Amino acid sequence: MNDRNGTMNLSRRGLMKTAAGVVTLATVPALSSRAYAAGSDKIRVGVVGCGGRGTHDSSRCLAADDNVELVAMGDIFPEQVERCRKTLAQRLPGKVKVSDEMCFSGWDAYKQVLAADIDMVILTTPPQFRPLMLKAAIEAGKHVFMEKPVAVDPVGVRSVIASSELADQKGLTIVAGTQMRRISHLVEAVKRVRDGVLGEILGGQCFRLGGGMTGWGPQQRKAEWSDMEWQLRRWLFMTWLSGDFIVEMHVHNLDVMNWAIGSHPVQCVGMGGRQQRTDPKFGDVYDHFAVEYEYPNGVRVSYKGAQQDGISNPHYQRVVGTKGSAQLDFGRAVIKGANAAEIGWNEYDPCLTQHADQMAAIRQGKRLNEGKQIAESSLTAIMGRMSAYTGRALKWSWALKASKLDLTPPAYEFGDLPMPPVAIPGQTRLI
Ligand SMILES: NC(=O)c1ccc[n+]([C@@H]2O[C@H](COP(=O)([O-])OP(=O)(O)OC[C@H]3O[C@@H](n4cnc5c(N)ncnc54)[C@H](O)[C@@H]3O)[C@@H](O)[C@H]2O)c1
Repeated sequence: MNDRNGTMNLSRRGLMKTAAGVVTLATVPALSSRAYAAGSDKIRVGVVGCGGRGTHDSSRCLAADDNVELVAMGDIFPEQVERCRKTLAQRLPGKVKVSDEMCFSGWDAYKQVLAADIDMVILTTPPQFRPLMLKAAIEAGKHVFMEKPVAVDPVGVRSVIASSELADQKGLTIVAGTQMRRISHLVEAVKRVRDGVLGEILGGQCFRLGGGMTGWGPQQRKAEWSDMEWQLRRWLFMTWLSGDFIVEMHVHNLDVMNWAIGSHPVQCVGMGGRQQRTDPKFGDVYDHFAVEYEYPNGVRVSYKGAQQDGISNPHYQRVVGTKGSAQLDFGRAVIKGANAAEIGWNEYDPCLTQHADQMAAIRQGKRLNEGKQIAESSLTAIMGRMSAYTGRALKWSWALKASKLDLTPPAYEFGDLPMPPVAIPGQTRLI
């Protein structure tokens, strides 16, 4: 099954077989899909956030199934909608049925997409907006595919967990863009780890050092851009929008650790700072973090992450137990010790699998809800950042239940928005 040029379609039969091999689907009593209720096979999709990932996820969604159409699009900036619509129409002609009337822009674009005649929405804005948009989508009765991370602060995490519970009550599916969980060699290796091939798990390491991403986004501020517009266009470097890179990007890697260990951390202590990305155009994010996470039973995971130019770039997840270790990498998994094995990449695009799984679940009326799982992985990363920013050790239970940290600005509107100062451990307050 090759999808490299994005033109592959799965037959319905093949789609279900693929899905069944990857996820466990439990039947739910009632599914509120319009397509299902109407006895029609067609799934109508909208997308909110028409940037790089919105384009990619929409294309994977449309390629993963014969009977799916994109019918509504929204972005804060109209040119993003137009660029995305054009790209998708070229890549997947016949599946992009978005009229001019179904193209929306501005702060309320997500409401207009949700009011359209769609069964499912793809949420691919910067993570700041995910809790708000997920809540609105579930309340509107839509299935959701949402990109990671799903929040930037504990208040957002709590909202996502509540929306995920509501999705279950309404029989709606939620799939998260944690495609590592659908890479076949990782699925197999994690299964073996969870089945005990490493004996008792003692700890692990999670390393992701890499480039500074300094060329990302517009480099010069235009005179007509307000503070808000400038920050939105450079969202990667604004903690209130991205969560900082430990959350925005390294949630993938921390998610693999949670998956392999089968739990989330119970506490952590972290440190970090910025040495290269000191120019104000890099907002308030750090460029390096080191966090020790403690999981149940004293299992300790050492995470190190950096986005700096000119440094070595190790990138791996490793779990260590009494009988060996497992390295869980993007390209292959290597188990050492008593049950040694090497499992390679099977070249199947996990981003297609995640959409095929969701379409199958929608059609079969099966529960598929990854909301809480990705909320927990997001909180894993968020608590690491909170600890590093403040210099304080923190407990999961406090972060989840008591922290009042909410990075939402006073208003979602174009205008003045001073940048918060870069966090300084020992001075920045733990909220
Ligand atoms: N799963 C993965 O491997 C992967 C890879 C890349 C990005 N992502 C995630 O996807 C999300 C989007 O990232 P991206 O790389 O596409 O960024 P991007 O900047 O290319 O796209 C984001 C889009 O959202 C729009 N937007 C911003 N605020 C909005 C709002 N309030 N309402 C509507 N639209 C709004 C922007 O104008 C932009 O078009 C992020 O959460 C990112 O972490 C995931």
